[in-house]
Amino acid sequence: MKKTLLLLIAAAIYVPTAMAGDFLGIFPRHTGVEPVTNKLYSDSCGECHFAYQPGLLPARSWQKLMEPKSLEDHFGENAEMSEKDRVAVLEFLTEYSADSTIRYKRSIKIRRSIPDEEAPIRITEVPYIKKKHEDIPRKMVQDNPKVRSLSYCNRCHTQAAKGIFQEDTVDIPNFRDWKDLID
Ligand code: HEC
Ligand code: HEC
Repeated sequence: MKKTLLLLIAAAIYVPTAMAGDFLGIFPRHTGVEPVTNKLYSDSCGECHFAYQPGLLPARSWQKLMEPKSLEDHFGENAEMSEKDRVAVLEFLTEYSADSTIRYKRSIKIRRSIPDEEAPIRITEVPYIKKKHEDIPRKMVQDNPKVRSLSYCNRCHTQAAKGIFQEDTVDIPNFRDWKDLID
């Protein structure tokens, strides 16, 4: 009886605290990055590669990428858009950028790894992301016809669209047994 009562009291204290923490955004409660919910963004920026979550780069990087001049020559492609859409997309990216969240652990690690004076325009150049992939051999990435570049996160990270990049959700095409080959 006593144990049950203690448990009830503990729950009565814990549940509201956790809810308040959640509400105030105190705890980093998610291991990944926040999923994309903006249709204009996923339509405009999810055509050639999957729509990278804003939480994968800091706001200063998105600002640089979204300048009209840089969209004109976007890694050798033309990704221009109307001024109205450009402003709306940039606003979304900034609002959910890696430096705006305290709830998504992966975003926190990304922003902490980038020196203040730097604004990488590639996620693959972010020190934290770079380090995570440094041991993957060429034959699994550039020389793998089903991957081609580290930029195509979702070709290996099966849950990338949901903002989940955990190692146990990785499946490298043509290299099912990548774990034995890397470790
Ligand atoms: C016309 C095709 C196209 C469109 C549209 C496009 N991109 Fe890209 N994007 C590319 C290509 C090509 C690359 C380089 C991929 C590579 O290096 O293998 C790239 C790379 C990127 C990268 C760097 C990925 C890395 O290597 O870490 C980011 C970030 C990015 N795009 C964001 C955007 C955003 C934001 C939009 C919408 C405004 C957008 N892209 C629209 C073609 C496109
Ligand atoms: C060639 C396949 C491949 C591609 C493409 C790829 N990754 Fe990975 N990624 C991996 C593998 C394999 C690991 C685990 C590495 C290890 O354990 O040594 C990993 C690890 C990670 C981790 C750490 C996971 C953890 O549990 O600690 C993150 C975060 C991540 N990748 C993000 C990305 C992002 C973002 C992109 C795209 C810009 C990307 N990856 C592209 C294969 C890939």
